[in-house]
Amino acid sequence: MYRQLRPVLFWIAPETAHRLVIGWLRLSRYIPFSKWVLRKRFTYDDPSLAREVFGLRFKNPVGLAAGLDKNAEAVNEWGCLGFGFVEIGSVTPQPQPGNPKPRIFRLPKDRAIINHMGINNDGAAQVAANLKRRARRRRVIVGGNISKNSSTPNAAAATDYERAFVKLYDVVDYFVINVSCPNVEHLSALQEGELLRAIVETIAEQRKYHDQYKPVLLKLSPDLSAVQIEETLALVFEYGLDGLVVANTTTRRDGLRTPPATLSRISDGGLSGAPLLANTIDMVRYIATLTRGQLPIIASGGVTSVGDARLLLDAGATLVQLYTGFIYNGPGFVKRILKSIK
Ligand SMILES: Cc1cc2nc3c(=O)[nH]c(=O)nc-3n(C[C@H](O)[C@H](O)[C@H](O)COP(=O)(O)O)c2cc1C
Repeated sequence: MYRQLRPVLFWIAPETAHRLVIGWLRLSRYIPFSKWVLRKRFTYDDPSLAREVFGLRFKNPVGLAAGLDKNAEAVNEWGCLGFGFVEIGSVTPQPQPGNPKPRIFRLPKDRAIINHMGINNDGAAQVAANLKRRARRRRVIVGGNISKNSSTPNAAAATDYERAFVKLYDVVDYFVINVSCPNVEHLSALQEGELLRAIVETIAEQRKYHDQYKPVLLKLSPDLSAVQIEETLALVFEYGLDGLVVANTTTRRDGLRTPPATLSRISDGGLSGAPLLANTIDMVRYIATLTRGQLPIIASGGVTSVGDARLLLDAGATLVQLYTGFIYNGPGFVKRILKSIK
């Protein structure tokens, strides 16, 4: 059915289509038996798919990547579409509108997207309220992806991460520190040396004040060099972080089938989707080898066909996430992936 619906959704501006999908998921809440119907159609449960990772039990290893439900508007409904976990955000301490529109572009020839959203979100207080309101019905693991407000200088970034962390602490199951978004000016500079240390140290300290332990992961850029990855790993072990998300969108454009003339009309931004897969596999394998498989890795980047998730798990990923592949393949995609993994 999605094959028939997709041309209509792709005819609409990407951000409008995105709002329509979230709106439809929220509306489905009020339609009797809709959850049951969605679950029956799109979920695939099998005990062999369950994973115990950083102290949490995931019913399956396929999750929704950050950015699709930034404000945690439809968390339970994503669970009904088969996802074993949902990463909300990125969430910043204060609400922010993001970059001027248009800021999402589809590249169908590459099964890819370029986005320049700039971490638009309703802010940590509103997102926490959204999660609290529907907490009793929750059946899916929720990760809270946090970042800093664009207006906050990098030197003061750690305080922003801390404020978002504290506001979301009681309403998410794990955290992801996003320092790798290429769409906020100078944000990816936070992946370097002392700036990253300040953020990681602040979050690790803050976690000690809470009774319940919440795993904290770091989301890397796919554009890091081998040396940068090794330096980051040293920091991850020094502060006892629980894992990595590998990786965010890339600023690279090599090997695309989309004509250069089309690309030149698109603003700068992060590329996601099929062109990322080879690099994600290499990066996951490199990190899994360096860490002898001791550090959980959530692979994110390039899962656009059914066998791709399996390749990432075989390379050493513990869990996988999708965003762009979901847009191109529709809701039945998760179930097909889960069947292939099984
Ligand atoms: C439109 C869009 C918005 C995104 N927003 C965020 C975000 O706010 N925070 C984040 O950490 N990643 C964000 N991402 C990156 C995704 O979480 C994911 O890491 C990336 O798209 C690679 O996975 P994919 O190839 O399955 O799309 C965004 C991606 C897209 C396409």
